[in-house]
Amino acid sequence: MESALKLDVGRARPDLRFAYSRPGLVTFKSVDAIAVDDAPGSVFARVWGRSIGPARSPEDAVHQLALVGADRLHVYPRDPESVTDLAPWHAALGVGLPGVAAGPATDGELVADVIVSASADEPAWLGLHRQDANHVAAPGALIAVDVPADAPSRAYAKIEEAIAWAGLPVRTGDVALEIGAAPGGAVMALAKRGVEVFGVDTGELAPNVRAMKGVHHLPIKVGALRWEQLPKRVDWLLVDVNLAPQVALHEVGRLMPKLAPTLVGAVFTLKLNDVSFVAELPVLAQRIAGFGFQSVRMRHLPSNRKEVCAVAMMRQRA
Ligand SMILES: C[S@@+](CC[C@H](N)C(=O)[O-])C[C@H]1O[C@@H](n2cnc3c(N)ncnc32)[C@H](O)[C@@H]1O
Repeated sequence: MESALKLDVGRARPDLRFAYSRPGLVTFKSVDAIAVDDAPGSVFARVWGRSIGPARSPEDAVHQLALVGADRLHVYPRDPESVTDLAPWHAALGVGLPGVAAGPATDGELVADVIVSASADEPAWLGLHRQDANHVAAPGALIAVDVPADAPSRAYAKIEEAIAWAGLPVRTGDVALEIGAAPGGAVMALAKRGVEVFGVDTGELAPNVRAMKGVHHLPIKVGALRWEQLPKRVDWLLVDVNLAPQVALHEVGRLMPKLAPTLVGAVFTLKLNDVSFVAELPVLAQRIAGFGFQSVRMRHLPSNRKEVCAVAMMRQRA
């Protein structure tokens, strides 16, 4: 998604100039100093922070980071799909920066990022960011999801990542409606959490998902879905339909008057047919907010391909 990221940063942060990139790492130059709590310039950035620069060795990283006063240390591969040996970096930094813990960051902590290449010939890149609601707590924003072997689609990981990233208060006994539910990865994840799920899709749910407690299939197109077919209470709306976002949102708009009184929140997977589409993300966020949601946040999650996740909250839960 690097080209989408560059377009998005170009739109949202004209003060930044593209500088250097390797797969998984993109850097920009700025005339002004960048603060450690600089707000992410794109929904496609997994981690966003101020660059310190390259470190030629673990000892060099210790030397450079000893002075920055970090509370937390995040060591992670530049390219998560590569086989990267992090052990020498963890070992040297663990000894060289005593008291700077690894593991998920808590809000307000100053996090030192050590971005390691799979190739020993390439330096690691060092950066700093302040942990806040714009940053995923896990090192490298790599949200760990255990996808069961019998999950029928990667959407199992998508919904779990959305719940973890946005801290969604999904509870046993909740009711969810998913538009574009087949073959049922997300339905499975929610049913495992004790949620009753109504899946709208002309396609079939996988038999193992269909057989789960609290799973219902409405085998129709969303355009044919009538208010009377919806359950009395819907806490969560999921939209993961293979339709252009404006078309999908049009259908959602038709259902919203019925859903809004009980809805807690919604998770939209917005399909991006080509990267130029990033220019429309603010318009889509506004359109979603126009349904009466209090907040709309977007992010390209690790399991998203050419799509972006938008989480919208209708009301707070105690
Ligand atoms: C990416 S898949 C959904 C994956 C699913 N969320 C899961 O967890 O496995 C998109 C789905 O949208 C469905 N779809 C496309 N157009 C639709 C429409 N007009 N109404 C309902 N479903 C539709 C397709 O049949 C397809 O199953």
